[in-house]
Amino acid sequence: MTNPQVAATADFLVEPAAGVAGSASVPGDKSISHRALMLAGIADGASEVTGFLASEDCLATLAAMRALGVRIDRPTATDVRVQGVGLRGLRGASHALDMGNAGTAIRLLTGLLAAQPFASTLVGDASLMRRPMERVARPLREMGADVRTRDGRPPVEIVAAVDGTRRLRAIDYELPVPSAQVKSAILLAALYADGVTRVTSPAPCRDHTERMLEACGVRVETAGLSTSVHPPPRLAPQRLTVPGDFSSAAFFIVAGLLGAGPEGLLLPNVGMNPTRTGLLDILRRMGAHIEILNPRTSGSEPVADLRVFASPLSGIDVPPALVPLAIDEFPVLFAAAACARGRTTVSGAEELRVKESDRIAAMSAGFAALGVEHEVTADGMRIEGRAEGAAFRGGTIDSRGDHRIAMSFAIASLRASGPLRIRDVANVATSFPGFVELACSVGLRVRELPA
Ligand code: S3P
Repeated sequence: MTNPQVAATADFLVEPAAGVAGSASVPGDKSISHRALMLAGIADGASEVTGFLASEDCLATLAAMRALGVRIDRPTATDVRVQGVGLRGLRGASHALDMGNAGTAIRLLTGLLAAQPFASTLVGDASLMRRPMERVARPLREMGADVRTRDGRPPVEIVAAVDGTRRLRAIDYELPVPSAQVKSAILLAALYADGVTRVTSPAPCRDHTERMLEACGVRVETAGLSTSVHPPPRLAPQRLTVPGDFSSAAFFIVAGLLGAGPEGLLLPNVGMNPTRTGLLDILRRMGAHIEILNPRTSGSEPVADLRVFASPLSGIDVPPALVPLAIDEFPVLFAAAACARGRTTVSGAEELRVKESDRIAAMSAGFAALGVEHEVTADGMRIEGRAEGAAFRGGTIDSRGDHRIAMSFAIASLRASGPLRIRDVANVATSFPGFVELACSVGLRVRELPA
């Protein structure tokens, strides 16, 4: 794994492309890959994961689980064998765990490690060191863990219990924001609690942890927006095939809508968990023609193939209820909105300001550089789309080291009048290794250049 602290910088040079065609198989789901490693690590016995996402974020989790004493073999880049050590088998790492750029990794591991009898320290790259951690630390403290942050941000320190044991209290917790990372951190700590822990979210958010815990034999109950976990005696090992990441497919969904040929663009094997697919609902309201083919399940997750057809889009007011179900897709949705007829309004999306970058500010700066008329609000954006001709002029934009900003502007090249230079794109490897090759294989004209 490259050290995320010193990731080389690179730019994308993207020439306008005439269109996209063929088929694009996106790599495995990031959220599921992180969770698979953590749960397999504390299961009793050997788990096998295929379709693992070999991205920098997930490799940071893999390295952390190894540092905590779990044996993990990778016969191929995307096949992983984890020799679980059992719920009480982790041992303290000899060094701070470097989670790189990965918010999911640091938040979920904080939950898991808060329950252990040993001390841990979690750090990350410059972006991760700015991200809010009190939202996770607070409920874990309520459970009796000793979790410390620095001004609410990493490093996160989990202080060992003085008597060398740790028993957490079960809590009934209302999440202040609909965050799957916070919910999951609490549910992982809840595996070690003295009773049933209940977490209630103000709105639906991704539920991969709950599904995977159930697959491992844990008693999980859901009632409305509440999830309860009963502490188990053990976790069963798993044999898991990770579906393609809907959030990675999102870039190609928008590419297909903006520029697919008559056969459409095929996206095989995409994870279709309804807590992830809010973008499909939003785009369909804008006029998108997307076919869902061969719906099936892979383990505990729904999967399908998608065929996306070029579609004239119209601006809409995005229903705020769909925001948490499309939380990672807003950068590329903003790009699609810039190509739609009329105004698109996004509100209730203040969480975008605390992602890998402030995604409202990063997209706004990019839009300003490329001549897209828009207005920023505290919790979203109004975008005046241009449906005829080029929606973007050529120019240089700064991705601010945020993978999803970089890939969104690469897709915008389908409606650009000139080349785009996208700065600081090395972090595309945190979620989407092979993005450039896959994008070029369907007709986009992206090159990665050293900065
Ligand atoms: C994730 C949850 C979301 C999402 C992130 C992955 C997860 O974050 O943005 O990319 O795997 O649980 P929040 O929980 O902060 O909304």
